[in-house]
Amino acid sequence: MHCIKNISENLLWVGANDRRLAMFEGIYSVERGVSYNSYLLLGEKTALFDTVDKAVQGRFMENLSQGLGERKLDYLILQHIEPDHSYAVEAVVNNYPDITLVLSSKSWNMISQFFNLDNSVKHIIVKEGDTLSLGSYKLHFIMAPMVHWPEVMVTYEEKTKTLFSADAFGSFGALNGAIFADEVNFERDYFDEARRYYTNIVGKYGAQVQSLLNKASALDINMICPLHGFVWRKNLHEIIKPYTLWSKYEPEEQGVMIAYASVYGNTENAAEILASRLWEHGIKTVMFDVSVTPASEIIAAAFKWSHLVFASTTYNAGIFVTMEALIYDLVAHNIQNRTIALIENGSWVATSGKLMRDKLAVCKDIKFVGEVSIKSSVKAEKLEELNTLAKEIVNSF
Ligand code: FEO
Repeated sequence: MHCIKNISENLLWVGANDRRLAMFEGIYSVERGVSYNSYLLLGEKTALFDTVDKAVQGRFMENLSQGLGERKLDYLILQHIEPDHSYAVEAVVNNYPDITLVLSSKSWNMISQFFNLDNSVKHIIVKEGDTLSLGSYKLHFIMAPMVHWPEVMVTYEEKTKTLFSADAFGSFGALNGAIFADEVNFERDYFDEARRYYTNIVGKYGAQVQSLLNKASALDINMICPLHGFVWRKNLHEIIKPYTLWSKYEPEEQGVMIAYASVYGNTENAAEILASRLWEHGIKTVMFDVSVTPASEIIAAAFKWSHLVFASTTYNAGIFVTMEALIYDLVAHNIQNRTIALIENGSWVATSGKLMRDKLAVCKDIKFVGEVSIKSSVKAEKLEELNTLAKEIVNSF
């Protein structure tokens, strides 16, 4: 038997999980794996929503075959051409040659760039507001450009009030038997991975996510079926509300995230002293060594917390390598609306503070509240400056 899941009457999950992948998209560690969701709707006509990644194509094709039974496959709705969802399109077309692809014009242009598909494949180009009847089920297509690529669309099925949301509302982490978010303790066990997924995958495109949320708010939605992670059938606000915050770049929590880069532990010590003072003032503070913690986790934390502190040694007359990479990544992800303080260290000429400030200053709605410059290690007068920096941060809440 194969592993398919019943989502609701006539709707099946026929996706697959990958727990062997080291780095999703070559950059995001996924120690807990990742799911590639694909959904099969068995109306009078049958429709498959997206396919899966190359790594799990075999399992997916078995699941699809079992899900269909004796039925033929009429439509493949391609909502997103990124290969983690579209890789198996050739296999599906080859196995079900009567199939009709349903996709946006941008998707049609893009799909031939990735795969050997041409005009001989039956296809329907859809645009915003177009519909497709499967008999008793009716699909509405909603364009969602840049959530996460330009060709993306999502699909609303009006009878079941289901939103097939492509990458939106997804999460890292393989599905371990449960398919619905309400079957697990999502907040405790999965919410951090949902945040890490959102912020790193679509964090840059807050305005476009806002646009999709506005379109979704006009729909009566009972269930959300994303392409990664759990299906939402209850308490949809638990995932929609954080998406609203994240896409507006509003912090989830008031508190401080300190990210530091330290060669011999002295910059780390300055960061530890600051963290200690902040807690003494009652300010929640978290710390990351940027040379140890994957950037994707720190980016997620930067979207969570209201105040950010970057502490870096000076290295080759610049910012320490791992800190420079982190700040580049944060700026690329459009971090904004944050209060920032800086600590630099340098044994002869300290430059990292100014350089970090210059790089972060391009972000929108950034307020700098203080900076301390250390020469090699924290001495008594610097302890005072760190105490003052802590007070400046506290006063900025
Ligand atoms: Fe999960 Fe943008 O693909």
